[in-house]
Amino acid sequence: MLRRIAIFASGRGSNAAKILEYFEGDSEVDVALIVSNKNNAKVLDLAFEHKIPSRVLSKKVFYNSDALAKHLKSQKIDLIVLAGFLWLIPPTLIEAFPDKILNIHPALLPKYGGKNMYGINVHKAVRRAKEKRTGITIHLVDEKYDTGKILFKKSLTVKPEWTAEQIAEAVLKLEHKFYPQVIDKLLKEA
Ligand code: GAR
Repeated sequence: MLRRIAIFASGRGSNAAKILEYFEGDSEVDVALIVSNKNNAKVLDLAFEHKIPSRVLSKKVFYNSDALAKHLKSQKIDLIVLAGFLWLIPPTLIEAFPDKILNIHPALLPKYGGKNMYGINVHKAVRRAKEKRTGITIHLVDEKYDTGKILFKKSLTVKPEWTAEQIAEAVLKLEHKFYPQVIDKLLKEA
């Protein structure tokens, strides 16, 4: 059975690119839509290059209407994949897609999660705390930041001399390797 994914991303979209690459040629999984909250996000170029329909959201539509949920339903989306999407998901969308919204966080939750904990902020905090390990967490999305059910974690050793940027680079490699695999498993188990 064909499964259809929508990727939500706010920025550079390197995870989105890896997900697209992973499912290219997979007859069972289709990246059917890319959604961004920024009209100049690089992920929109990626959508264009891959001929994938894309949508840019305004805060008003996202938080005060069910237009997005309706659109996703009309497009028969099975799973929403957040890949560096920075807006908190509203209850209407969570109710429309129960246990069908996935997020990746670039740290070992519950540590270093929550509002404002995204991108380099996370890695700076890890470095400041002199953590010996960090990694990735893939989880279902609920109504708060980074508190949904954890499905997968992978950790790595932080070298004491690493800068926040070096930590980010090592963590991103884990994201690129494991996010597509976890999405695949989730879709094909469902
Ligand atoms: C990724 O590192 C992702 O884990 C992080 O944003 C980056 C997006 O990179 N997400 C969060 O911090 C969510 N709290 P990308 O646009 O290159 O995929």
